[in-house]
Amino acid sequence: METNKDIENLKLICNTCNKCGLCKTRTNVVFGVGNTNADVMFIGEGPGENEDLQGEPFVGRGGQLLDKMLDVIDLSRKKNIYIANMVKCRPPQNRDPDPEEVEKCIGYLKAQIKAVNPKIIVCLGRIAAINIISPDFKVTSQHGQFFEKEDGILYMGVFHPAALLRNPNNKPDAMEDFFKLRDKIKEIAPYTYND
Ligand code: URA
Repeated sequence: METNKDIENLKLICNTCNKCGLCKTRTNVVFGVGNTNADVMFIGEGPGENEDLQGEPFVGRGGQLLDKMLDVIDLSRKKNIYIANMVKCRPPQNRDPDPEEVEKCIGYLKAQIKAVNPKIIVCLGRIAAINIISPDFKVTSQHGQFFEKEDGILYMGVFHPAALLRNPNNKPDAMEDFFKLRDKIKEIAPYTYND
């Protein structure tokens, strides 16, 4: 995998961040993982306990489900996608990050998006979708739709994997969204699937 100097520099800066109170309780900064030159980027909410301990996004039960769904459409953090979160440090007791924490952290995410330069961004769950796609985004009615923004990137919001673990009835719909994603990748970034 080719190195991405901008991402590496940003990671170093992030690792010593103390812009908000979450720095006091974190074990590790969870910066991001995957192909730093990917055309497809996934954005979650924030690290949970396992992620905080391991320093990598989506490594708990939800992450295992995410990896399985990605595998069905030939995507993998080891190969062709990049994964990051809205906030890089774990909110205690896995509460939602508060608006001030998001505000302090979102500059890192914006710089990450600029450095990776993806064609498609998939928001995992409501918190990512309302902050990145639109403040009134409704996952239940708008999941799986593509939104093109002024930056030329296509955005899609999908069910959060943890929500799918709580409510498996939504799994077939969630998988349909991933098939739509695969079709769009084949259309606009087909080399994602070249080894
Ligand atoms: N949930 C998220 O939104 N992100 C993670 O990294 C783990 C769980």
